[in-house]
This record gives sequence, C-alpha cells and structure tokens, in this order.
Amino acid sequence: MTYDIDTIRAQFPALAITDNNVPRIYFDNPAGTQVPRRVADAMTACLFEANANLGGYFTTSERATQLVDDAHTAMADFLNAPSPDEIVFGQNMTTITLHLSRSIGRKFKRGDEIILSRMDHDANVTPWTLLARDLGLIVRWLPFDTSTFEFDLAKLDEILNEKTRLVCIGGASNMTGTLNDIRTVSKKARAVGAWTYIDAVQSVPHVPTDVQELGCDFLVCSAYKFFGPHQGILWGRREILESLEPYKVRPASDDIPGCFETGTQSHEGLAGTMEAVDYFAWIGKTMAGDYHARNARYKGRSQYVHAAFDFLFEYEKGLAKHLIDGLQQLPGVRVQGVTDPAALHRRVPTVSFVVEQLAPSDVAKALAKKNIFVWSGHNYAVEAAKALGIYDKGGAIRVGPVHYNTVQEIDRLLVSLAEILPRANVA
Ligand SMILES: Cc1ncc(COP(=O)(O)O)c(C=O)c1O
Repeated sequence: MTYDIDTIRAQFPALAITDNNVPRIYFDNPAGTQVPRRVADAMTACLFEANANLGGYFTTSERATQLVDDAHTAMADFLNAPSPDEIVFGQNMTTITLHLSRSIGRKFKRGDEIILSRMDHDANVTPWTLLARDLGLIVRWLPFDTSTFEFDLAKLDEILNEKTRLVCIGGASNMTGTLNDIRTVSKKARAVGAWTYIDAVQSVPHVPTDVQELGCDFLVCSAYKFFGPHQGILWGRREILESLEPYKVRPASDDIPGCFETGTQSHEGLAGTMEAVDYFAWIGKTMAGDYHARNARYKGRSQYVHAAFDFLFEYEKGLAKHLIDGLQQLPGVRVQGVTDPAALHRRVPTVSFVVEQLAPSDVAKALAKKNIFVWSGHNYAVEAAKALGIYDKGGAIRVGPVHYNTVQEIDRLLVSLAEILPRANVA
C-alpha cells in the first residue's frame, strides 16, 4: 500500500504554517510532536461540554466521568494492556515515575539492588538513584557499547542476581535512537524475581507496543511525544499495582488506578490522548490494510492501532535511511547511533550527530534561522552523553523525523547543513 503523506500531513494544521513564507520543518519531534486537528478539537470539546469534576449527578460531571473511563480504555487498547484499570494517568512521565517510585520503594529494603542503564533519559535514572539514597539500595549500572550503540545483554547477566529487585531501562534511546530488546530484558529480570520499569517515551511514537508481549511490569510513556497533548501514562501489572501502597489523600479512591492518580487529572489532556489513539486507529483502518492480518490477535481498535504502527514504521525506516546516508556524506559529521542499513529495525529515526569544529548549539541555531527545528545538547540523556564523551562538548545535534516528515524535508536539512559546515564551505 502506498504511503499517502499528503493525507497524513493534512491532519496537522501546524505543518502548514510558514514564517516569512518559509515553511517550518519540525525535526524536534523527540522533544514533542505536533497534533492532528482532531486532538485539539477533542480537547476543546472536553472543555466546553464536559468541564466538571468527577462523580457528580449532573450532565457535565457524568460526561467527564465517562471520558476518563474511556481514556483508560483507549490507552489499554494502545498498549494492549489486559485491563483499563492498569492504566494510570499523571502529569508526565517524569512526575509519574517520581511519584510511583516512592510506592515501589516501600517494597524494598536496605541492601536490595536495582539496575539502571547508561543509555537512559534521566527520568528513568534519577528517580531511582534518589530512592536508592533514601533506602540504602545498591545501584548496578548496565553499560552500552559505544561503538555499536547497543546493550550487550551478557553484561546484564553479570549484574542480575537474586538481590535484584528492579531493572529500569528505556524502550528506545532519546539520544542514540537505539531500540532495545525489552522482551529479553524482562525475561531475564523475571527469572531472578526482579520487576522491570520500561521508559517507552521514545519507542511508543514509532513502533507497536504490547505490554503483554514485552513481559515487563511497568511501562511509561507521554502522549505529547505521540501526537497528543502533554499527558503522562503508566501501565502497571495489576497484581503489582494492587500490592503497592499508594501515596494518596484519604478521600481518594483506594482502588487502582484512581489511588495512584493524585488530585484532579487534566481531563482535556485525557480527551486529547484518547483522540491521538483514535488517530492511529484511523490510520490503521484506512491505510494499513496490509498489516491487519498480522495483527489479527488484537481486537477492534487495538488491531488498527498496532497495524498503523507496523505500517508507519516502514515509512520511518525509509526516512531514517535517507537521513543517515545523507549525514554520512557530509564532511566532519559523526552519527551517534546505529547506521547499518540492515539494522534500521533496531533503531527509531531519531538521529544524533556531532560535527567537527562546530558546537551543537551553533548548528541548531543556524538551522533555526532556516526554519528547521532541531535540538542540541544532552537532551537529559545525561548518562548516555557522558558515555559517548560528548557531555562536556555541548552534546549532539538531534534530528528526529516522524511519520509526518518527508524525504524532501530531510533533503532541505542536508542542503542547509552543507552550507553551515565549515569544511563543506572550504571544499
Ligand atoms: C526517553 C525519555 N524519557 C522520559 C522523558 C521525560 O518525559 P516527560 O516530559 O513526559 O516527563 C523524555 C522526554 O524527552 C524522554 O525522551
């Protein structure tokens, strides 16, 4: 099936905006994506038609209560969670993790061990090092190979043991773009009785996610990275969530998921998140017919969502290849991630690179002048930037295409970079 990029792009009003007649190119997606009109419309409708707190006897409250229930169901479909009760909403991934880590920590004792990764975003590192400090836990570090940009899971075997209680690892790196083998990590952790806490913020926007297939215990993501509003989401295995003691106020629900959803939620955020899920279901239904059969084990909306991601990832791999090929032809550019064309299924299209003789922030500023939006720095992947030896050198330049970006936009980036790079100018 051909990829109808025009129909996709037409869904996103922001993509049509120009500044002084220069189109905007959004390659800042790993830090936050643009939203389809239907997401913004759903949020507006929530604010106009269902704007009340939960549990009242009047129309707006009934609608808000229904909306919150429906949003849990939508995310359960999105992640193939066994039940909507296992979906916990919160402000963002970082806040949810800092919050849940306290409850999780109540299960641990001094001397217990946790495993953190050198590849992860700090939101899946510092909540746990703080917990370790509070409780006297031992932190063991899983390194990654800085030449392949992947974990060697034999190294995980070396540090996993019967004292390990928790393994925290990312689905995909926001720095290198590496997609990690969460299924194997979860299996290994389970074999010693440890829980897994998966930061899927950067994998969820690109690849199908099925928490049951992954075999993990917690998985967190953020809707603003997958074309929704600023909204954090956690999935947790029911028996674990039910066994945790929540930090909550007395009148709040004692049942999952309400006991972990502190205070009043952003109902408009939930409305937008649900609509983002339905956006993917729409793609799955109308464009990804070739992928329905392979996703027949999912039912209804879940089947369409999973087909959509299979379909979109094929397109994204093409973007990644074009971007990496082009970058590698530029003088003085070093890509900080998997470049092998045969291994593009092991990365998302988020590509970080450094340039000889140029500070990453200067490159980002020069691109911004051409209305090309990219990030520079360590992007909170503190451990990864340190491991790669770029933490003290301004980090990297990060270009993050998603399914609404085009090959032509990548070409415009490459031409602009060729103008910016010092050695290219000399040549
Ligand atoms: C891999 C990863 N984890 C966690 C986060 C933090 O997410 P949030 O802003 O929802 O707290 C980010 C944000 O960029 C991220 O890229």
